[in-house]
Amino acid sequence: MIIKKIFDFLNSYAPFAFQESWDNSGLQIGDLNKKVSRALLSLDVTLDTVLEAKELGAQLIISHHPLFFKPLKCVDCSNNIVKTLLDFNISVISNHTPLDLVPKGVSFSLGMKLNLKNMRVLSPSEEKFFYKLFFNVPTGMERTILSKIFSEGVGEYLYYKNCAFETFGEGRFSVKDDENRVPYLKASNPYKEGKIEVLVRKDRINWVIDKIRSIHPYDELAFDVFEESVNPLNIGYGAIGELSTPKKLSSVIDLVKESLGISKVRYTGDLNRKVKKVAVLGGSGSSFIKDAIRASAEVFISGDIKYHDALDYGDKISILDVGHRASEEPVLFYLKEQISKEFKEVEFFISKSFGDFYKYI
Ligand SMILES: [Fe+2]
Repeated sequence: MIIKKIFDFLNSYAPFAFQESWDNSGLQIGDLNKKVSRALLSLDVTLDTVLEAKELGAQLIISHHPLFFKPLKCVDCSNNIVKTLLDFNISVISNHTPLDLVPKGVSFSLGMKLNLKNMRVLSPSEEKFFYKLFFNVPTGMERTILSKIFSEGVGEYLYYKNCAFETFGEGRFSVKDDENRVPYLKASNPYKEGKIEVLVRKDRINWVIDKIRSIHPYDELAFDVFEESVNPLNIGYGAIGELSTPKKLSSVIDLVKESLGISKVRYTGDLNRKVKKVAVLGGSGSSFIKDAIRASAEVFISGDIKYHDALDYGDKISILDVGHRASEEPVLFYLKEQISKEFKEVEFFISKSFGDFYKYI
Protein backbone atom coordinates (compact mmCIF):
# COMPACT_ATOMS: atom_id res chain seq x y z
CA MET A 1 0.00 0.00 0.00
CA ILE A 2 1.26 3.50 -0.73
CA ILE A 3 1.63 6.31 1.82
CA LYS A 4 -0.82 8.48 -0.17
CA LYS A 5 -3.72 6.33 1.09
CA ILE A 6 -2.81 7.17 4.70
CA PHE A 7 -2.38 10.83 3.73
CA ASP A 8 -5.90 10.80 2.23
CA PHE A 9 -7.31 9.14 5.35
CA LEU A 10 -5.73 11.79 7.60
CA ASN A 11 -7.00 14.52 5.28
CA SER A 12 -10.49 13.15 5.66
CA TYR A 13 -10.22 12.49 9.42
CA ALA A 14 -9.00 16.01 10.18
CA PRO A 15 -8.85 17.98 6.90
CA PHE A 16 -5.58 19.84 6.39
CA ALA A 17 -7.66 22.73 5.01
CA PHE A 18 -8.83 23.43 8.57
CA GLN A 19 -5.33 24.34 9.72
CA GLU A 20 -4.51 27.73 11.20
CA SER A 21 -2.65 30.15 8.91
CA TRP A 22 0.53 29.78 10.99
CA ASP A 23 0.40 25.99 10.99
CA ASN A 24 2.17 23.57 8.64
CA SER A 25 0.11 20.38 8.64
CA GLY A 26 0.46 17.91 5.76
CA LEU A 27 3.41 16.13 4.16
CA GLN A 28 6.65 17.32 5.76
CA ILE A 29 9.21 15.17 3.98
CA GLY A 30 9.20 12.02 1.87
CA ASP A 31 7.30 10.48 -1.01
CA LEU A 32 3.56 9.74 -0.92
CA ASN A 33 4.00 7.10 -3.62
CA LYS A 34 6.38 4.98 -1.53
CA LYS A 35 5.07 1.76 -0.07
CA VAL A 36 4.26 1.52 3.64
CA SER A 37 3.86 -1.52 5.84
CA ARG A 38 4.73 0.02 9.22
CA ALA A 39 4.01 3.48 10.59
CA LEU A 40 4.89 5.19 13.86
CA LEU A 41 2.51 7.65 15.56
CA SER A 42 4.13 10.33 17.65
CA LEU A 43 3.43 13.79 19.04
CA ASP A 44 6.82 15.16 17.98
CA VAL A 45 9.51 14.31 15.45
CA THR A 46 12.75 14.23 17.42
CA LEU A 47 15.92 12.33 16.52
CA ASP A 48 14.82 9.65 19.02
CA THR A 49 11.49 9.29 17.20
CA VAL A 50 13.24 8.93 13.85
CA LEU A 51 15.64 6.31 15.25
CA GLU A 52 12.68 4.51 16.81
CA ALA A 53 10.97 4.44 13.40
CA LYS A 54 14.16 3.15 11.79
CA GLU A 55 14.49 0.37 14.42
CA LEU A 56 10.87 -0.63 13.80
CA GLY A 57 11.40 -0.70 10.04
CA ALA A 58 8.68 1.96 9.65
CA GLN A 59 8.49 3.91 6.39
CA LEU A 60 6.25 6.63 7.83
CA ILE A 61 5.96 8.81 10.93
CA ILE A 62 2.57 10.41 11.63
CA SER A 63 3.16 13.27 14.03
CA HIS A 64 0.90 15.80 15.69
CA HIS A 65 3.38 18.68 15.84
CA PRO A 66 4.87 19.50 12.43
CA LEU A 67 8.49 18.64 11.72
CA PHE A 68 8.92 21.97 9.91
CA PHE A 69 7.24 24.82 11.67
CA LYS A 70 9.20 27.87 10.54
CA PRO A 71 9.77 28.46 6.81
CA LEU A 72 12.57 26.21 5.57
CA LYS A 73 15.42 28.31 4.15
CA CYS A 74 17.85 25.47 3.36
CA VAL A 75 18.22 21.72 3.75
CA ASP A 76 21.28 21.35 5.93
CA CYS A 77 22.44 17.73 6.03
CA SER A 78 24.18 18.32 9.33
CA ASN A 79 20.58 18.35 10.63
CA ASN A 80 20.49 14.81 11.93
CA ILE A 81 16.71 14.52 11.90
CA VAL A 82 16.37 15.43 8.22
CA LYS A 83 19.47 13.44 7.22
CA THR A 84 18.30 10.29 9.03
CA LEU A 85 14.81 10.58 7.51
CA LEU A 86 16.33 10.91 4.02
CA ASP A 87 18.96 8.20 4.59
CA PHE A 88 16.36 5.68 5.69
CA ASN A 89 13.56 6.77 3.35
CA ILE A 90 11.17 7.64 6.15
CA SER A 91 8.35 10.03 5.28
CA VAL A 92 6.64 12.32 7.78
CA ILE A 93 3.04 13.54 7.71
CA SER A 94 1.91 15.94 10.45
CA ASN A 95 -1.62 16.79 11.45
CA HIS A 96 -1.56 19.60 13.98
CA THR A 97 -4.32 22.21 14.31
CA PRO A 98 -6.84 20.22 12.20
CA LEU A 99 -6.48 17.39 14.72
CA ASP A 100 -6.93 19.93 17.54
CA LEU A 101 -10.12 21.26 15.94
CA VAL A 102 -12.12 18.17 14.99
CA PRO A 103 -14.50 16.41 17.42
CA LYS A 104 -12.59 13.11 17.15
CA GLY A 105 -9.28 14.87 17.74
CA VAL A 106 -6.95 15.91 20.54
CA SER A 107 -9.32 17.38 23.14
CA PHE A 108 -12.16 14.90 22.69
CA SER A 109 -9.65 12.04 23.00
CA LEU A 110 -8.50 13.54 26.31
CA GLY A 111 -12.13 13.83 27.45
CA MET A 112 -12.82 10.22 26.43
CA LYS A 113 -9.74 9.08 28.32
CA LEU A 114 -11.18 10.76 31.43
CA ASN A 115 -14.55 9.17 30.69
CA LEU A 116 -16.43 12.47 30.36
CA LYS A 117 -20.07 12.22 29.32
CA ASN A 118 -22.12 14.48 27.00
CA MET A 119 -19.06 16.06 25.45
CA ARG A 120 -19.37 19.03 23.13
CA VAL A 121 -16.94 21.55 21.71
CA LEU A 122 -15.75 24.16 24.24
CA SER A 123 -14.80 26.99 21.92
CA PRO A 124 -16.49 26.66 18.51
CA SER A 125 -14.39 27.93 15.64
CA GLU A 126 -15.48 31.22 14.09
CA GLU A 127 -13.58 30.39 10.94
CA LYS A 128 -15.88 29.71 7.95
CA PHE A 129 -14.78 26.43 6.40
CA PHE A 130 -17.79 25.70 4.16
CA TYR A 131 -19.77 26.89 1.18
CA LYS A 132 -23.40 26.13 0.37
CA LEU A 133 -23.59 25.23 -3.30
CA PHE A 134 -26.86 25.44 -5.27
CA PHE A 135 -27.06 24.04 -8.78
CA ASN A 136 -29.86 23.35 -11.26
CA VAL A 137 -30.47 19.89 -12.70
CA PRO A 138 -32.92 18.41 -15.16
CA THR A 139 -35.37 16.23 -13.22
CA GLY A 140 -34.25 12.61 -13.18
CA MET A 141 -30.51 13.38 -13.16
CA GLU A 142 -30.17 14.17 -9.46
CA ARG A 143 -28.97 10.75 -8.30
CA THR A 144 -26.40 10.38 -11.06
CA ILE A 145 -24.82 13.74 -10.29
CA LEU A 146 -24.96 13.43 -6.51
CA SER A 147 -23.40 9.96 -6.57
CA LYS A 148 -20.39 11.45 -8.39
CA ILE A 149 -19.82 14.31 -5.94
CA PHE A 150 -20.57 12.76 -2.57
CA SER A 151 -17.22 12.22 -0.91
CA GLU A 152 -15.47 13.61 2.13
CA GLY A 153 -16.01 17.31 2.38
CA VAL A 154 -19.26 17.24 0.35
CA GLY A 155 -22.69 16.80 1.93
CA GLU A 156 -21.11 15.92 5.28
CA TYR A 157 -22.33 16.94 8.73
CA LEU A 158 -21.26 15.78 12.18
CA TYR A 159 -23.36 12.61 12.28
CA TYR A 160 -24.62 12.44 8.68
CA LYS A 161 -23.09 12.11 5.25
CA ASN A 162 -24.35 12.28 1.64
CA CYS A 163 -26.79 15.07 2.58
CA ALA A 164 -28.51 17.17 -0.09
CA PHE A 165 -31.81 18.96 -0.46
CA GLU A 166 -33.74 19.45 -3.68
CA THR A 167 -36.53 21.79 -4.65
CA PHE A 168 -38.49 21.71 -7.89
CA GLY A 169 -39.63 24.62 -9.94
CA GLU A 170 -39.82 26.24 -13.32
CA GLY A 171 -36.91 27.79 -15.13
CA ARG A 172 -36.94 30.06 -18.14
CA PHE A 173 -34.35 31.52 -20.50
CA SER A 174 -33.74 33.05 -23.91
CA VAL A 175 -30.69 32.22 -26.00
CA LYS A 176 -28.43 35.07 -27.09
CA ASP A 177 -27.83 35.28 -30.82
CA ASP A 178 -25.05 32.80 -31.50
CA GLU A 179 -25.46 30.35 -34.31
CA ASN A 180 -22.76 28.06 -32.88
CA ARG A 181 -24.51 27.70 -29.56
CA VAL A 182 -26.71 24.64 -29.18
CA PRO A 183 -28.63 24.89 -25.91
CA TYR A 184 -29.37 21.66 -24.06
CA LEU A 185 -33.01 22.60 -23.68
CA LYS A 186 -35.01 22.89 -26.81
CA ALA A 187 -38.20 22.12 -24.95
CA SER A 188 -40.95 24.52 -24.04
CA ASN A 189 -40.05 27.58 -22.01
CA PRO A 190 -40.64 27.72 -19.02
CA TYR A 191 -39.46 24.19 -18.23
CA LYS A 192 -39.42 21.98 -15.13
CA GLU A 193 -36.16 21.48 -13.28
CA GLY A 194 -34.73 20.78 -9.85
CA LYS A 195 -32.35 22.82 -7.71
CA ILE A 196 -29.99 20.95 -5.41
CA GLU A 197 -28.30 22.45 -2.39
CA VAL A 198 -25.32 20.78 -0.82
CA LEU A 199 -22.69 21.72 1.77
CA VAL A 200 -19.12 21.77 0.42
CA ARG A 201 -15.84 22.19 2.31
CA LYS A 202 -14.10 25.25 0.85
CA ASP A 203 -11.07 23.34 -0.36
CA ARG A 204 -13.34 20.98 -2.36
CA ILE A 205 -15.46 23.60 -4.18
CA ASN A 206 -13.49 23.71 -7.45
CA TRP A 207 -13.32 19.91 -7.55
CA VAL A 208 -17.10 19.68 -7.07
CA ILE A 209 -17.96 22.28 -9.71
CA ASP A 210 -15.56 20.69 -12.24
CA LYS A 211 -17.06 17.28 -11.48
CA ILE A 212 -20.64 18.52 -11.94
CA ARG A 213 -19.68 20.28 -15.20
CA SER A 214 -18.08 17.10 -16.53
CA ILE A 215 -21.34 15.10 -16.27
CA HIS A 216 -24.04 17.78 -16.38
CA PRO A 217 -25.98 17.91 -19.68
CA TYR A 218 -26.52 21.71 -19.74
CA ASP A 219 -24.19 23.61 -22.04
CA GLU A 220 -23.90 26.25 -19.30
CA LEU A 221 -24.16 25.19 -15.69
CA ALA A 222 -26.44 27.35 -13.52
CA PHE A 223 -25.08 27.48 -9.97
CA ASP A 224 -24.58 29.73 -6.92
CA VAL A 225 -22.04 29.56 -4.11
CA PHE A 226 -22.60 31.18 -0.72
CA GLU A 227 -20.35 31.22 2.30
CA GLU A 228 -21.90 29.05 5.03
CA SER A 229 -21.82 30.65 8.45
CA VAL A 230 -22.91 27.67 10.54
CA ASN A 231 -20.39 25.18 11.93
CA PRO A 232 -21.81 21.88 10.63
CA LEU A 233 -18.95 19.67 11.78
CA ASN A 234 -18.83 21.18 15.28
CA ILE A 235 -15.25 22.30 14.76
CA GLY A 236 -13.49 24.11 17.55
CA TYR A 237 -10.93 23.97 20.33
CA GLY A 238 -11.37 22.06 23.57
CA ALA A 239 -14.26 19.98 24.87
CA ILE A 240 -16.64 20.20 27.79
CA GLY A 241 -18.47 17.34 29.46
CA GLU A 242 -19.49 15.87 32.79
CA LEU A 243 -18.14 13.29 35.18
CA SER A 244 -20.62 10.45 35.68
CA THR A 245 -21.00 11.48 39.34
CA PRO A 246 -19.80 14.57 41.22
CA LYS A 247 -16.33 14.04 42.69
CA LYS A 248 -14.05 15.93 45.06
CA LEU A 249 -11.29 17.77 43.20
CA SER A 250 -8.76 15.50 44.94
CA SER A 251 -10.47 12.43 43.39
CA VAL A 252 -10.52 14.09 39.98
CA ILE A 253 -6.78 14.65 40.30
CA ASP A 254 -6.29 10.96 41.18
CA LEU A 255 -8.41 9.97 38.18
CA VAL A 256 -6.38 12.25 35.88
CA LYS A 257 -3.06 10.91 37.18
CA GLU A 258 -4.14 7.33 36.75
CA SER A 259 -5.75 7.81 33.33
CA LEU A 260 -2.85 9.77 31.86
CA GLY A 261 -0.09 7.80 33.60
CA ILE A 262 1.47 10.82 35.28
CA SER A 263 2.67 11.27 38.83
CA LYS A 264 2.37 15.04 39.24
CA VAL A 265 -0.30 17.61 38.43
CA ARG A 266 -0.14 21.35 39.03
CA TYR A 267 -3.47 22.59 40.26
CA THR A 268 -5.41 25.50 41.66
CA GLY A 269 -8.53 25.26 43.84
CA ASP A 270 -9.94 23.54 46.89
CA LEU A 271 -9.24 19.78 46.98
CA ASN A 272 -12.48 19.15 48.91
CA ARG A 273 -14.75 21.01 46.49
CA LYS A 274 -17.14 18.72 44.62
CA VAL A 275 -17.07 19.09 40.86
CA LYS A 276 -18.97 17.60 37.92
CA LYS A 277 -18.58 19.82 34.86
CA VAL A 278 -15.12 19.48 33.32
CA ALA A 279 -13.51 21.31 30.38
CA VAL A 280 -10.45 19.86 28.69
CA LEU A 281 -8.05 21.15 26.08
CA GLY A 282 -5.15 19.04 24.83
CA GLY A 283 -1.99 21.13 24.38
CA SER A 284 -1.51 24.73 25.51
CA GLY A 285 -4.77 25.78 27.08
CA SER A 286 -4.10 29.10 28.80
CA SER A 287 -6.10 31.18 26.35
CA PHE A 288 -9.19 28.95 26.71
CA ILE A 289 -9.66 29.24 30.50
CA LYS A 290 -12.12 32.09 29.86
CA ASP A 291 -14.21 29.80 27.61
CA ALA A 292 -14.29 27.12 30.32
CA ILE A 293 -15.51 29.68 32.88
CA ARG A 294 -18.11 31.00 30.43
CA ALA A 295 -19.36 27.42 29.90
CA SER A 296 -19.69 27.03 33.71
CA ALA A 297 -17.04 24.32 33.95
CA GLU A 298 -15.79 23.75 37.49
CA VAL A 299 -12.44 22.28 36.39
CA PHE A 300 -10.22 23.03 33.41
CA ILE A 301 -7.67 20.38 32.44
CA SER A 302 -4.92 21.29 30.01
CA GLY A 303 -1.17 21.86 29.64
CA ASP A 304 1.22 24.81 29.58
CA ILE A 305 -0.92 27.01 31.83
CA LYS A 306 0.77 30.38 32.22
CA TYR A 307 1.36 31.79 35.68
CA HIS A 308 -0.62 34.98 35.07
CA ASP A 309 -3.60 33.12 33.61
CA ALA A 310 -3.71 30.80 36.62
CA LEU A 311 -3.44 33.87 38.87
CA ASP A 312 -6.20 35.76 37.04
CA TYR A 313 -8.70 32.91 36.82
CA GLY A 314 -7.67 30.46 39.55
CA ASP A 315 -10.35 31.75 41.94
CA LYS A 316 -13.12 31.21 39.36
CA ILE A 317 -12.28 27.67 38.27
CA SER A 318 -9.98 24.85 39.38
CA ILE A 319 -7.16 24.51 36.88
CA LEU A 320 -5.23 21.26 36.39
CA ASP A 321 -2.01 21.55 34.39
CA VAL A 322 -1.11 17.99 33.39
CA GLY A 323 1.63 18.98 30.95
CA HIS A 324 1.41 19.63 27.21
CA ARG A 325 2.44 16.14 26.17
CA ALA A 326 0.31 14.16 28.63
CA SER A 327 -2.77 16.15 27.60
CA GLU A 328 -2.23 15.32 23.92
CA GLU A 329 -1.15 11.68 24.12
CA PRO A 330 -4.67 10.18 24.27
CA VAL A 331 -5.24 11.22 20.65
CA LEU A 332 -2.41 8.95 19.50
CA PHE A 333 -4.17 5.93 20.98
CA TYR A 334 -7.55 6.94 19.57
CA LEU A 335 -6.12 7.71 16.13
CA LYS A 336 -4.21 4.42 16.12
CA GLU A 337 -7.47 2.57 16.80
CA GLN A 338 -9.26 4.36 13.94
CA ILE A 339 -6.45 4.15 11.40
CA SER A 340 -5.75 0.45 12.17
CA LYS A 341 -9.37 -0.38 11.36
CA GLU A 342 -8.99 1.34 8.00
CA PHE A 343 -5.64 -0.19 6.96
CA LYS A 344 -5.38 -3.79 8.10
CA GLU A 345 -2.28 -4.36 5.97
CA VAL A 346 -0.24 -1.71 7.82
CA GLU A 347 1.11 -2.09 11.37
CA PHE A 348 0.80 1.07 13.45
CA PHE A 349 2.92 1.75 16.52
CA ILE A 350 2.83 4.50 19.14
CA SER A 351 6.16 6.12 19.92
CA LYS A 352 7.60 5.04 23.25
CA SER A 353 8.86 8.55 23.90
CA PHE A 354 5.69 9.50 25.75
CA GLY A 355 5.24 10.97 29.21
CA ASP A 356 5.97 14.51 30.13
CA PHE A 357 8.94 15.97 28.27
CA TYR A 358 9.93 17.85 31.41
CA LYS A 359 11.50 15.93 34.25
CA TYR A 360 10.77 16.76 37.88
CA ILE A 361 13.24 16.31 40.74
FE1 LIG B 1 0.59 20.68 21.05
